[in-house]
Amino acid sequence: MTHHDDTSPATRNGQPSIRTVIAERVSRRGFLLGSGATLGAVAAQGFVGSLFSGQAHAQAAQSTLQFTELKRIFDETHHVADGYRADVVVGWGDPMQAGQGAIDVATMDAAEQAARFGYNCDYIAYMPLPRGSQSSDHGLLCVNNEYTSFNVMFPDFPDDEGAPARFTEAQVKMSNMAIGHSIVEIKRESGTWSVVQDSPLNRRITLDTPMTIAGPLAGHDLMKTSYDPEGKLARGTNYNCGGGVTPWGTVLTCEEGASDTFGGDVTKNPQAAVLERYGYDGADYYGRARFEDRFNLDKEPNEPNRFDWVVEIDPYDPASTPVKRTALGRMAHEASTVVVNKDGRVVVYMGDDDYFEYVYRFVSDGAYDPANPSGGKDLLDSGTLSVAVFNSDGTLNWVPLVQGQGPLTAENGFATQADVLLKTRLAADAVGATPMDRPEDMETNPVTGRVYAIMTKNKKISADKLNPVNTRPENHYGHIVEMIPPGGAGADADHTAESYGWDLFVLAGNPKDPAHGVRFHQDTSESGWFVNPDNLTFDPKGRMFVATDGANDFDIADGIYAVDTDGPARGLPKLLFAAPKGAEATGPFFTPDGTTLFVSVQHPAEDSETTASLTTLWPDFREGSLPRPAVVAIQRMDGLEVAS
Ligand code: FEO
Ligand code: CA
Ligand code: CA
Ligand code: CA
Repeated sequence: MTHHDDTSPATRNGQPSIRTVIAERVSRRGFLLGSGATLGAVAAQGFVGSLFSGQAHAQAAQSTLQFTELKRIFDETHHVADGYRADVVVGWGDPMQAGQGAIDVATMDAAEQAARFGYNCDYIAYMPLPRGSQSSDHGLLCVNNEYTSFNVMFPDFPDDEGAPARFTEAQVKMSNMAIGHSIVEIKRESGTWSVVQDSPLNRRITLDTPMTIAGPLAGHDLMKTSYDPEGKLARGTNYNCGGGVTPWGTVLTCEEGASDTFGGDVTKNPQAAVLERYGYDGADYYGRARFEDRFNLDKEPNEPNRFDWVVEIDPYDPASTPVKRTALGRMAHEASTVVVNKDGRVVVYMGDDDYFEYVYRFVSDGAYDPANPSGGKDLLDSGTLSVAVFNSDGTLNWVPLVQGQGPLTAENGFATQADVLLKTRLAADAVGATPMDRPEDMETNPVTGRVYAIMTKNKKISADKLNPVNTRPENHYGHIVEMIPPGGAGADADHTAESYGWDLFVLAGNPKDPAHGVRFHQDTSESGWFVNPDNLTFDPKGRMFVATDGANDFDIADGIYAVDTDGPARGLPKLLFAAPKGAEATGPFFTPDGTTLFVSVQHPAEDSETTASLTTLWPDFREGSLPRPAVVAIQRMDGLEVAS
């Protein structure tokens, strides 16, 4: 479960799906776009379809992923494949300063929370220490804290319609300090990762942390508030979900749509039509508007415009001010994955995680110079934001969202580039972007250069809303789209090209249920299939690791699945890690040497009605303790590379 599933209507007001196209091809084997030979392996054999039509196959395909798959398991704790360990590194409420003792999270107040590790861990970046090194034993663990699961934090607090009115001011303030981002210095000694509790680099970023507004919206009239009359200094960050790292040593954290965190009457807001397109409806899901006018849509009308951006954090400088990079567009950002193109331009891939939203790409105007890393920092303020249009011939076009081009004119409400960015979704609607089944993470395979975009599921899709890349009229399962830049593999791939190829890499679901219409490798095991892919990462060898969110609805654990993207076992997932009940697995991130895979276990026990009936007390399991979201480190017992 995530906050979006059941609480945020966020429908696409007034924008019909742009086309109804039957997916004419289940497979586009051998489809290539200007990068021929390197992609020969695309022609993998044996996707299902053949499996469940009863065709025999001679022998199991040879996965490159050298571990014995974990057997499917779903209970109150976490599990990892034989020969591996999965240790809790840090979790909610853990100390981050010298002298702090252990705490009873059940009695934690706002001030205490602001100085301790945050709640619902999501995206993870491991940033080596010292800066610029490849150290895999010492670094900064930079972790998003997406939201709070109040039903399992506060006593007698079911997540029902009455919740927004039930919050006390103390609960709201504590919750506000539990979200944002947490940075802790960590070290591996004798194979065990632990937090350096008194590190001066440890830092919390919350809903109150001041943040510079950069890019075309800096100083714009619609960004000005009573707190910030100049429109250049936002206050805090919210729903920090996915993210990315830059080659100049910063972390990008995604604000995944603040729509349900504001109260008040949206119809009284001068930007009502735009806000409604972004799902703002005055829900006040966390009770903030009752205690702080800035979260009231009619009292502080421009405050919502200051959320739903990508925020850049320099974790190596604890005194640095995070920066909201408005050139990257405004949406329910899930991913902001960076790749440096062969010509040095910086490319950021982004998903907008809501029903029928879009896939985006930003290309910087300037080039990154590795000899001058600090020169990178303003590259994200100027460039071209584009949105993906998927064609039925296996190509996709990146359509630029540039003021003055196509329909993005003053007559249509886009007088400046700032207008285009503030209304990114409306601009994308206008150019005919392809509506997707909730785009979550995106990531580039470092070996092949291909880009993968995850659609987690779409409970609102129906037969009349299908398109070439979203093909199932009941998509409760999710799928993974493969995007193929021209130019060649790895560093040769041209991530700035106007046109890519694409394919459907995996259609998730249970292969045994024909109604799911899955597409996995035919040798996928009973433990290996997954539903609701959400986040992904690649190991240094270019194998994909997928984290899932939503599998509990299918009576299986969310977890981590490793998948080859090339060779005979392309599309053959293997279960590595299972999360405890109520939790999603998210934020997978490797150390540079590939020996540790960090994973967030988010919202354990969130399926509980209240704290009186907790489905798990993970990870402490002490009588009277509460479940705590936490980061685990997955390693081989012998310390060698994961899945090597
Ligand atoms: Fe925060 Fe889209 O999950
Ligand atoms: Ca997610
Ligand atoms: Ca990722
Ligand atoms: Ca999700």
